Amino acid sequence: MRKFILAALPAAALLIGGVAHADEMQMIEARQAYFKSLGASMKAMGPLTKSFDAAAAKAEAEKLKAALAVDVAPNFAPGTSVDEFPGETEALAKIWDNMEDFGAKAAALHEAGAELIAVAEAGDGAAFAAAYGKMGGTCKACHDAYRLAD
Ligand code: HEC
Repeated sequence: MRKFILAALPAAALLIGGVAHADEMQMIEARQAYFKSLGASMKAMGPLTKSFDAAAAKAEAEKLKAALAVDVAPNFAPGTSVDEFPGETEALAKIWDNMEDFGAKAAALHEAGAELIAVAEAGDGAAFAAAYGKMGGTCKACHDAYRLAD
C-alpha cells in the first residue's frame, strides 16, 4: 500500500500541474482573442480614415464597443508571461513588475477608444481620422513596453 501511495504521488502532482497549466493557457488564449478583435477593428477602420463612410464607421464603432467591453484584466494573472510560456505568449514579464503603468496604458486605450467611437457615431470624418491616430498610438505605447518584439 505504502509503495502504491509513493508511486501515485508524482502522478497526482503532475495532474494538478496539468490543470493549472490548462487554466493559464486559457487565459493566454482569451487575452490574445481580445487583442485580435481590437486588431480587426483597427484594420477595418483604417481605410475609413482616408475615405470616410459614416455608415461603415458606425458599424465598426459598434464592433469596437463590444470588443472593448470585454474585461481582459483577469486574463493577465501572474505566471503567464513569455518567461513561463515561451512560444505561447508575447506578454513580457515586466508587465507584472509595472502593473500600475500597464493599467494606465490600458486606461489610455479605453479613453481613446471611447473618443473614436463617439466621433464615428457623430459621423465626423476629420475627427475620426484624428481619433484613429490617437487610438493607434495607445496600442503602440503598450506594445513597445510590454509585448515581445517581432
Ligand atoms: C495595455 C497594453 C496593451 C494595449 C493598450 C494594447 N495591447 Fe495589444 N497586446 C498587448 C500584449 C501584452 C499582447 C501579448 C498578449 C499575449 O500574447 O499573451 C498584445 C497582443 C496583441 C496582438 C496579437 C494577438 C495574438 O494574436 O496573439 C494584437 C493583434 C494586438 N495586441 C493589437 C492591439 C491593438 C490593435 C491595440 C490598440 C487598439 C492594442 N493591441 C493595444 C498589450 C496591449
